Amino acid sequence: MPSKFRCIRCSREYEPGSIFRCECGGLLEVIHEPIKWDRHIVDSRLCPMGVPYSSGVWRYKELIHPGLYAGFIVTRPEGNTNIYHRGTVSDYVGVDKLTMKHEGENPTGSFKDRGITVAVSEALRQNAKAVACASTGNTSASMAAYAAQANLQGIVFIPEGEIAYAKLSQALAYGSKVVQVPGSFDDAMRIVQEASRELGLYLLNSINPWRVEGQKTIILELLHQRGWEPPDWIVVPAGNLGNTSAFGKALAELVELGWIDSVPRIASIQAEGAAPFYKLWKYGGSELEALHPETVATAIKIGNPVSWEKALRVIRETDGVVEVVTDTEIMEAKAIVDASGVGCEPASAASIAGAKKLTAAGIIRPDDDVVCVLTGNLLKDPDTTVKYHTNKLKGIQPARSNAPTQLDAKSISASLRRILSK
Ligand code: F0G
Repeated sequence: MPSKFRCIRCSREYEPGSIFRCECGGLLEVIHEPIKWDRHIVDSRLCPMGVPYSSGVWRYKELIHPGLYAGFIVTRPEGNTNIYHRGTVSDYVGVDKLTMKHEGENPTGSFKDRGITVAVSEALRQNAKAVACASTGNTSASMAAYAAQANLQGIVFIPEGEIAYAKLSQALAYGSKVVQVPGSFDDAMRIVQEASRELGLYLLNSINPWRVEGQKTIILELLHQRGWEPPDWIVVPAGNLGNTSAFGKALAELVELGWIDSVPRIASIQAEGAAPFYKLWKYGGSELEALHPETVATAIKIGNPVSWEKALRVIRETDGVVEVVTDTEIMEAKAIVDASGVGCEPASAASIAGAKKLTAAGIIRPDDDVVCVLTGNLLKDPDTTVKYHTNKLKGIQPARSNAPTQLDAKSISASLRRILSK
């Protein structure tokens, strides 16, 4: 090993191991053997280095907002999210070639940053003074951050008591005005549309087509990372249906460009208690019927999704499917993803639970190449995670709970041995 541990007090050296303090009590530091190394190697690994093109959204600017003057771009930068394969998750779903694209790795912790960077940049181009959205939490967190960066006033409408605390904290901390609406997300959505019309606020929900343009880059980046080799399936949680719509649009445009020659099938997964799109797809009808939503996955607790028409077209055009999963299935899939070290918020795990259900039904085949999109970060909803592991979620039996244990202060080592042997 070309690296050693060296004591900062007495310079004694150690082979790197699990000793972190020198015999003399001094702290250790890592010392590498001196080497000659060309700076161009690291430069080439980080290419290109500057914004906006280091962004996993603006890298595809010509496919997203080709006419936008670059001076209007508000970017963190976003995107550049990783794709993971974990054996435990594959085994759980029953598909070897299962990967997860983790959109929770965006700057504010969800895929929303991809659409918001485009829509806020467009707001600047239009000389807007204030931006607004209704949200189950993630859109508001993202909008608040980008509005702050762009010096725009943000106003978010949230269903009172219905959004995860971490998301509320983001919107407050980034300085948006937070309006609590008694009722559901769908009520907040109706109110924000009225308020935007009356007060001239620039609306940032995915009803705004620029949001969809930004969210297309989940697919563009995914296929780019895969050398433009499409998978057989892309599985995505579905709430307001912006992503489902954006995914289909991106795929159609890539075919048009000749960058891909086959189109993956899209599977949109809804929570059983908030599944108006599933009902429309399964039972037919010319209009979506709104319903009162109920699910532990508050991000997709939506009964009247705005983009259902676009999304329905996408499901038809990609030979896709819509599926539902129960709250118990969502939380169990989340426990598996979390324990694999990847982690996600409850709504995201709907994609894994959905892939499992579709595989069990023989619709996804065990040798298919499947990408599940994880839409949000594990830290977005810690309350639900802790409640699951401590068996405090109403109506959910936690099959994989990992509750904290009490240390017996009188006999620490015996107590620890007991905990570790469990
Ligand atoms: N996953 C997460 C983590 C979300 O926050 C959302 C939507 C979805 C999935 C559903 O995506 O709407 O494109 O079908 N959250 C919105 C919000 C509604 O306000 O944050 P969709």
